[in-house]
Amino acid sequence: MIDDIARLAAEGTERVGVASTLDELRSVESELLGKRGALAALRQQLGSLPPDERRTIGQALNDARLTVQAAVDARRDALATAGRAEQLEAERLDLTEHVHGGRRFGHKHLITQAIERLEDVFVGLGFQVAEGPEVEDDWHNFGALNFAEGHPARDMYDTLYVDYGEPGSTLLRTHTSPVQIRVMEHLPPPIYMVMPGRCYRQDTADATHLPAFHQIEGLVVDRGITLAHLAGTIDLFTKAYFGGDFTSRLRPAYFPFTEPSAEFDIIRPDGSYLELGGCGMVHPNVLANCGLDPEEWQGFAFGFGIERLAITRHGVDDMRDLITNDLRFLEQF
Ligand code: FA5
Repeated sequence: MIDDIARLAAEGTERVGVASTLDELRSVESELLGKRGALAALRQQLGSLPPDERRTIGQALNDARLTVQAAVDARRDALATAGRAEQLEAERLDLTEHVHGGRRFGHKHLITQAIERLEDVFVGLGFQVAEGPEVEDDWHNFGALNFAEGHPARDMYDTLYVDYGEPGSTLLRTHTSPVQIRVMEHLPPPIYMVMPGRCYRQDTADATHLPAFHQIEGLVVDRGITLAHLAGTIDLFTKAYFGGDFTSRLRPAYFPFTEPSAEFDIIRPDGSYLELGGCGMVHPNVLANCGLDPEEWQGFAFGFGIERLAITRHGVDDMRDLITNDLRFLEQF
């Protein structure tokens, strides 16, 4: 009988090991360990055995049951794991619409490409790149930039405020000019810096405006800086970015943080022009607000819209196309 039990345990363990589904495993388990199973049938014969043998055989039956049960448990775990993996594989959804020859391709968004290209051009002119926070305080976005409390120039920016701190104290930056302040607060001159980033205004989206858009700010602070350096830098940039047959021009304008201030346009080879952004000589109050002596240091700054620049360069009519995520549009760039 001992031999029968050992054989049953060995064969049983082997059958369990090759069960290929959970259903099959269940039926093998009940054949071996169930109430009407093979081990139960042997156990029924225990009563008719002499007491010594009964103990030995009983022990062997228990050992066999434990061995087979352990094999069943291990097999069940293995089958469940494999089943989950199979189910995951079967239910996997391929959400990529465009597959080329079995390989998926993506590329940088047009605005990211434009920012990287702008950074390249300015780094080539000797500038460094800095970034600042998109959630700003009133001081950096307005106060330090010489916008007096209640100054009408604040109305030029339809500001989005954040519900944090004192009402009106925290906002989504309306331009990249607050990064000028942060740079001047932290770095001693000479400063030659460009600062790209996202800005927010309560503008309704149309062909030339978005409520969230990008600007790139430029700031130079050094000794003996004049308007001629500003005009020369804008012209150098225009040629480097658009091509040697493009030029630029400055038109008088007003910004509280620059004096004198100008709008700058680029002039295309056919003579037509495009308004790109604002610029000017850093206002002495702004230098003083950042702890710099305006008698010793002078500077110029400029800031322009990257979406406007990108759509012009690529002949896109409507700025909203940049953000509607239509692959047919995006794939062209
Ligand atoms: C400014 O934001 C000034 N900070 C620029 C500046 C910097 C002047 C340094 C002097 C010295 P303005 O509001 O004009 O200026 O915006 C500059 C450019 O940002 C615009 O010419 C335009 O290209 C872009 N822009 C402004 N609003 C939007 C918008 N809603 N959507 C897309 N581009 C915009």
